[in-house]
Amino acid sequence: MDASLVFRKAYRQMHRAVQVHGVLGTVRLVAEKLRRYGKELGAPASFDSPPVSNFDQMWNVQTDGNEDLSELQVIDKTNYLLGTRYQPTSPEMFNEIIEAYPLPLQESIFIDCGAGKGRVLLLASELPFKRIIGVEFARDLTEIARANIQGYRSLTQKCGQLQAICVDATIFPFPVEPTILYLYNPFAGEVMRKFIEHVENTLKQHPRTFFVLYRNPKYASLWDGSKYFNRVRATDKFVIYKGLREVKTNGVEGLPRDNRDN
Ligand SMILES: C[S@@+](CC[C@H](N)C(=O)[O-])C[C@H]1O[C@@H](n2cnc3c(N)ncnc32)[C@H](O)[C@@H]1O
Repeated sequence: MDASLVFRKAYRQMHRAVQVHGVLGTVRLVAEKLRRYGKELGAPASFDSPPVSNFDQMWNVQTDGNEDLSELQVIDKTNYLLGTRYQPTSPEMFNEIIEAYPLPLQESIFIDCGAGKGRVLLLASELPFKRIIGVEFARDLTEIARANIQGYRSLTQKCGQLQAICVDATIFPFPVEPTILYLYNPFAGEVMRKFIEHVENTLKQHPRTFFVLYRNPKYASLWDGSKYFNRVRATDKFVIYKGLREVKTNGVEGLPRDNRDN
């Protein structure tokens, strides 16, 4: 189309818009059209990106987000369909869980299975844990977690030994040390079942202090069914389980059936 024709058409449209919507209304309309146009072209998120959380702003890290697993590089697809999307725990929630029960922080390692971008690792590092491990099966999230660990500068940090490992939680070899395990609803149904069995095996082979902090406990009934754990605290937002040194038999604490002499 001829340039003068385009100009005249645009002028007529603008004129009509001003008559119908007024000057201010037309400005708003044009801004909205430009915003949509920019979005369609894949414009940078600055147009309508969500606000950066206080946590990320304060510590100059990148733990925000709501990432679908279908957009991430998951190392092994076996447990991918029952994995949950990345979403970070809020600092307030983390503190509420940690304060809900007297946990043996100083003698324990802290492990977040499904660690994502590592926010919980950074929060945990403000407490005197022996060391901290993040377990995550999405490669790109693990890389971000590593960068966050590197970039986190806090004068009040109490644990400086942090690492993020890229591995499926159901095969992660648990260190044989007192453990505080954190889970923010990382996986569902069968995968949780498989994971619990994996945790029970390490506990059976090496009895030790073992706590599970389970946030958004959608599959708490599976943990409740374990003869190796007891609930010690519960709210609608989280459950804390304590590993048993002497395992429940028919709901009573005692030696596990398969470890008894008779
Ligand atoms: C809800 S996010 C929790 C993130 C972090 N723990 C927090 O609280 O800030 C769940 C995470 O679990 C990870 N995940 C899901 N299934 C997994 C598996 N089988 N092994 C390791 N990580 C897994 C997801 O990639 C996601 O990053």
